[in-house]
This record gives sequence, structure tokens and C-alpha cells, in this order.
Amino acid sequence: MKKLILVVVGAAMLAGCGQKDDNSLKMITEATFPPYEFLRGQEIAGIDVEICRAVAQKLNRPFKAETVDFDFVIPAVISGKAHLAAAGITVTEDRKKNVDFSIPYVKTGIVVIYKKSNPFTGKDQLKGKKIGVQSGTTSETFVLEQLLQEPERTKSPAEAVAALKSGRVDFVIADIDPAKNCVKGEAELALSDFITSEEYAVAIRKGQPELLKAIDETITELKASGQLDQWIRQFTEESDKLKGE
Ligand code: ARG
Repeated sequence: MKKLILVVVGAAMLAGCGQKDDNSLKMITEATFPPYEFLRGQEIAGIDVEICRAVAQKLNRPFKAETVDFDFVIPAVISGKAHLAAAGITVTEDRKKNVDFSIPYVKTGIVVIYKKSNPFTGKDQLKGKKIGVQSGTTSETFVLEQLLQEPERTKSPAEAVAALKSGRVDFVIADIDPAKNCVKGEAELALSDFITSEEYAVAIRKGQPELLKAIDETITELKASGQLDQWIRQFTEESDKLKGE
């Protein structure tokens, strides 16, 4: 019975009847990053959403998800606007200064997206070229720190790929899974091997050991039960289909 009331209250708040004292666990993300997060109509769907929903369930709290530009995802948990930041966020030493990370849930990395008419031959080839990246990402850091140049910043991996197709950039760097989604059905585009090795984790405001423990336990359980792998398959398939539409 108690649960039912919580669900009703949660729904009322989602409908905009008040935000302040609601007990929801709020996730912040950037939903142009399939299969981790993407828009299914108006709804934010994907692997990260399910991981955070499972944390909310463990804590017996209603769940909400919101999308903002990637640059504002980590600031949103630092300022307390959201509780969980989950957006295919790579664990980095720099970010660890500002937030606490859960245990990782995926091993991954970034790749170069190129036109088959201009094949990627290696990192040196990228120097001095126009490189499209989603703003605020580790792809941006790669261009700044490894290539020592300014990237062409976009709001999403798909926007960077559109710039590649139209010739406004020479290459795109992006995380492998959204990159795969972007090149799906694009016969003239291809992907390189990994140029970095990265891990995704959930980020929260520093100094919340109990919340961190609940997230870590949830991730451990989702891995052990095979549920995480199932979501990876399910949302890859769904977002690939959406791309095809
Ligand atoms: N893994 C990369 C990073 O942490 C890219 C993440 C972008 N995520 C997103 N939902 N747009 O910088």
C-alpha cells in the first residue's frame, strides 16, 4: 500500500505538481548517446536509465530522469540538482576531483569515425585536421591533450557525424557504441579500432558513502544476474532500429 501511494505521488510530481520535497531519486543524463541513453519519443530510454531506475528501486524511492547538454551533467550532481549522473560517463582523474564514481559497469573506449574515401591511418594523420567531437567529452580531451589543438564541438555525436558527412569536419571522435549507431546504414562511413581504453561509472556528489554503496551493490547484482548484458543487447537493438527509421 505504501508503495502504491509513493508511485501515485511520484506520478503527480512528474506531472508538475511540485518538485521541492519530493523523495524521488533524480538522474541527470544527456540523451543523444545510444544505447546508453536516447529519446524514445518524449521518454528517455537506455541502459543508464535502467541502471539508475534499479538503484531507485533498491532505495524504495520514485525515479525521475532528465536530459541536459553533456557539459552540464556532472555540474548537476555537484550542485545537488540531481542525485545520479549517468551518461556513459568515463571515469577520469580530473572528474574524480569533483565527484565520486561508482564501480565501473562497462569497459569501452573512443574511436575515429571516418569516410571510406579518406581512410584513417593513425593518430598522426589527425593533427591539424578538423575533428568533430561532442562538447565536454573525453573525445574533446583527446583532441586537446593528445593532438594539442581545438576540436569542432557539437551537441551530440550524431551532429558531429552530420558535419563529417557534409564535409565540415574531416574526422569525428566518439565513444564506440554511439559511433556504431551513427554509422549504421551509412555505407560511406567506417570506424577505427579503439584509440583509448575507458570505463563508464555513475557519478554522484562527493561524500555520500551510503548512496555510493547502493549504486555499487546494484551494479554488482545487475552484472551477476546477466541483466546488464540483456539491457545492452535490448537497447542496442532498439536504438539501431530507431536509427533506421
Ligand atoms: N564517455 C565520454 C565521456 O565521459 C562521453 C560521454 C557522453 N555521454 C553522453 N550521454 N552524451 O566524456
